[in-house]
Amino acid sequence: MQYSRRASRGESVRRSGYRYLAIAVLLIAVSGCVSSQSSAQTAEVRAEVGQTTVAQATASGLRGAKRVDFILEQMTTAEKLGQLNQMAGGRQVALNSRITDAERDRVRTGGVGSYLHVAGAEFLGDLQHVAVDESRNGIPLLFAMDVVHGYRTIFPVPLGIAATFDPEDVELAARIAAEEASAAGLHWTFAPMVDIARDARWGRIVEGAGEEPFFGSAMARAQVQGYQGGDLTRPDTIIATAKHFGAYGAGTGGRDYDSADISERTLMDVYLPPFRAAAEEGAASFMVAFNDIGGVPTTANKALVNDLLRGEWGYGGLVVSDWNSVTELLNHGVAELPEEAGALALLASVDMEMTSGIYASEMLEAVEASPALQAALDAGTKRVLMAKERLGLFDTPYAYHDPAREAAVMLSPDHRASARRVAERSMVLLRNDEGLLPLKLQPGRVAVIGALAGDARSMIGSWKAQGREEDVVTVVEALRKRLGDEFVVYEPGAGTRDAAEPAAIARAVATAQAADVVILVTGEDYNMTGEARSRSDISLPAPQKELAEAILATGKPVVTVLMTGRPLDIGPLDRDGASILVAWFSGIEAGPAVTNVLFGDIVPAGRLPASFPRSTGQLPLFIGHYPTGRPADEDLSKDSARYMDIPITPAYAFGHGLSYAEFEYDNLQLSSEMLAPGGSVSISVDVTNTSGTNADEVVQLYTRDPVAQVARPQQELRGFARVHIDAGNTKRVTFTLRPEQFAYFAPSGRFEADAGRIDFGVGASSADIRLSGSFCISASVIADGPAAALATPVLVSEE
Ligand code: NOJ
Repeated sequence: MQYSRRASRGESVRRSGYRYLAIAVLLIAVSGCVSSQSSAQTAEVRAEVGQTTVAQATASGLRGAKRVDFILEQMTTAEKLGQLNQMAGGRQVALNSRITDAERDRVRTGGVGSYLHVAGAEFLGDLQHVAVDESRNGIPLLFAMDVVHGYRTIFPVPLGIAATFDPEDVELAARIAAEEASAAGLHWTFAPMVDIARDARWGRIVEGAGEEPFFGSAMARAQVQGYQGGDLTRPDTIIATAKHFGAYGAGTGGRDYDSADISERTLMDVYLPPFRAAAEEGAASFMVAFNDIGGVPTTANKALVNDLLRGEWGYGGLVVSDWNSVTELLNHGVAELPEEAGALALLASVDMEMTSGIYASEMLEAVEASPALQAALDAGTKRVLMAKERLGLFDTPYAYHDPAREAAVMLSPDHRASARRVAERSMVLLRNDEGLLPLKLQPGRVAVIGALAGDARSMIGSWKAQGREEDVVTVVEALRKRLGDEFVVYEPGAGTRDAAEPAAIARAVATAQAADVVILVTGEDYNMTGEARSRSDISLPAPQKELAEAILATGKPVVTVLMTGRPLDIGPLDRDGASILVAWFSGIEAGPAVTNVLFGDIVPAGRLPASFPRSTGQLPLFIGHYPTGRPADEDLSKDSARYMDIPITPAYAFGHGLSYAEFEYDNLQLSSEMLAPGGSVSISVDVTNTSGTNADEVVQLYTRDPVAQVARPQQELRGFARVHIDAGNTKRVTFTLRPEQFAYFAPSGRFEADAGRIDFGVGASSADIRLSGSFCISASVIADGPAAALATPVLVSEE
């Protein structure tokens, strides 16, 4: 597939011919024409020149791209390949553990450009000194880590943060993560994950913003802004990585790493928009996905990475492979030898190779024999050096290595307060049939049931960076603190993995029976979502289900707190009269946040970033599906696109979330019924808090193009705003749309918005549309990118 409309025909790797070339060059190398530099030789050269290459460039007054060009000119092929080499400096659970003397020697000889799984201002400062003072070129290293939802101050998992439906919360969490990570010596995070996830079997749905591309694009922009702060030279900012380009979330059957066999249109309109948004926001790096799209592994996908991302989008940032994904090209079956895999990746313009080491150890001869590879290597090296330049590392290589700053910022009271605020705002009230929530201030004797209520490890999620269990305030602890020990009885009842023990269930039941109110904390544990954590059945884990059924059978008033990293089929919990709060894995302040929402200090206003299914068999499930020729119909006597054994709707749709308050929508106004090219149309509604409780409402705008050249999704989000409205007050919310926001990947291969009617609806969720209308696009328009990547300005005014 050729994704770029102006893709150059360019050189392609003739793999078999290339292999002969590689072997011929290898023979020359063996005969002594190519040698690698030992550390003794490096030291000699340094002694002769007296100054590192970087120092020479800087002393000559060169800055920015000119400095980088100067450095590049002085570098040997081996040194360039070394810059593209990212080594594991440790393991996720044992940071820095692989930084040995041999590794320091690798730094001295210029054999490495970056380390991941490392941390610590002082430790990394020392290592940086080796690179800057003891290598010939003096090029600083890039230190990287997966800082995904906090560094030490752990926020809710990304799906939970997204549930705030507030880009400001999302940005704040990323900003604090960047402040802490940068203080610990890190320059680069592998976040945000902006993969669209429409199949909740996929364990990594927890790491992203869910199912909807417009929403995902907004969340991508907010995170890039948070991590990079608009100015990477500031030492409290870090490089963000939009990952995993381009359709990692579309793996077959929701299995991790699996092939995405999707149409070009789905790729363009659904999976790529958040990447486009991240690129436009200035994300300084991208990571390519492990998986293939229609048989082409992304790590070797020249059409997608080089021609589309770099060529058409003009992306100049650093592209990194995923862990070992270059060497995994052999497993994909598109290369037979490591150097073939390396050549494919390099020519696809994957600049930095994470951990498989092929560039640095297998490519020297091949590159020296191939002008095309040399050009790719130069371009890749330049982008790595430019990333270092943008961070200011050539001028201030130790700016990230101040132990005093590290001690001061880590887990500061402000950061903790922000973690609590974001956690509170991430909670989604799924149902509250009889108004059991908020709980009365003195609810009497409270039974807290479920092992997850005390599971600090789960509360900090799977990418916990430097989060610690001892930093967590669990749900049980917070409830005890709030109500007093004598009013809270805790019985774990059952965990998530081991078969439930009848005696433990019986104890939990007895505890529930003796209480006035039961708080059942149930769901999945942290290790059931995340990488390689796909599940074939996303109902409650069996022991949790057994426990829940036993507790619900007591007939006691039960409030359910659902801990999860994915939409679940909640089975027995979803019954008449239920009160269910989705708490995700909400970080170190999980307990206080849950407690504050349960007792009404905080009115919940989180919304689902991904639809909750009625059963696993309903997956993939998302609001943006095409209508089909026989649209799903409730009436089973009609042959339509549905399953015969469950209703056609999700259990809880994208955007759903209740409140303790109530809101009315009225006074819909359109600025014009015609939307002309170059113009805009505004849609305004009044939203009134008709209850006696001050609260937030998330006002959502959905659109549909009913007739186009190709079928268009039944619903697309095109605007949202989380708005605080005091009791009895009204706010006017205005969304402004342009014609380009209806452009889709048309049969012409361009993004086109057709002339004709657009229907829209404004409401409290995709399934709760309160007001609707339509307008017309007066003439078709050609856009330069996918509609979902464009932001919709929203104005909120007092009435
Ligand atoms: C593999 C994961 O796919 C990626 O998201 C992560 O950044 C790297 N490992 C590094 O930990």
